[in-house]
Amino acid sequence: MFAVAATQSTTKAGLYEELAEQARGLLSGERDRIANAANFASLVYHALPAINWCGFYLFDGTELVVGPFQGKPACVRIALGKGVCGTAATTRQTQVVADVDAFPGHIPCDSASRSEVVVPLYDGERLIGVWDVDSPRLARFDDADRAGMERLAGIFVDSLRAA
Ligand code: SME
Repeated sequence: MFAVAATQSTTKAGLYEELAEQARGLLSGERDRIANAANFASLVYHALPAINWCGFYLFDGTELVVGPFQGKPACVRIALGKGVCGTAATTRQTQVVADVDAFPGHIPCDSASRSEVVVPLYDGERLIGVWDVDSPRLARFDDADRAGMERLAGIFVDSLRAA
């Protein structure tokens, strides 16, 4: 049975470094996107402090459809360009939202969410989906989170195409 060690780091950079190593171990040797998305969401949800939702919206060729996640039930379909998720997908830029109520068109799912990060997932030019993390704290995410999450997202995308 695969066991994920508890994270030890006291710094944010150190925590993401440990998570990157654990994510590589957890996803290595498996290419199934649902399996890897499920384990990835669980790993991060249980390691990052002050998180109430962590999961995926996967592109079905038309729109984003909720995929594996941890947290309360969420809205199922999000059109490209809509909400924080659809904006990340179309702009190809990570969205770091300090106050979800101040984001035009934010789509509320869990009413506890106050801030949010959405990382777009592309394999070259091909949209895979987005990875979304919500926090009940205002301004929970800073640039170190953005950098750490983009690195983790890269490990997830790489796992889907590894031999
Ligand atoms: N808030 C997101 C919707 C997804 S939930 O937060 C899980 C958005 O505006 O796209």
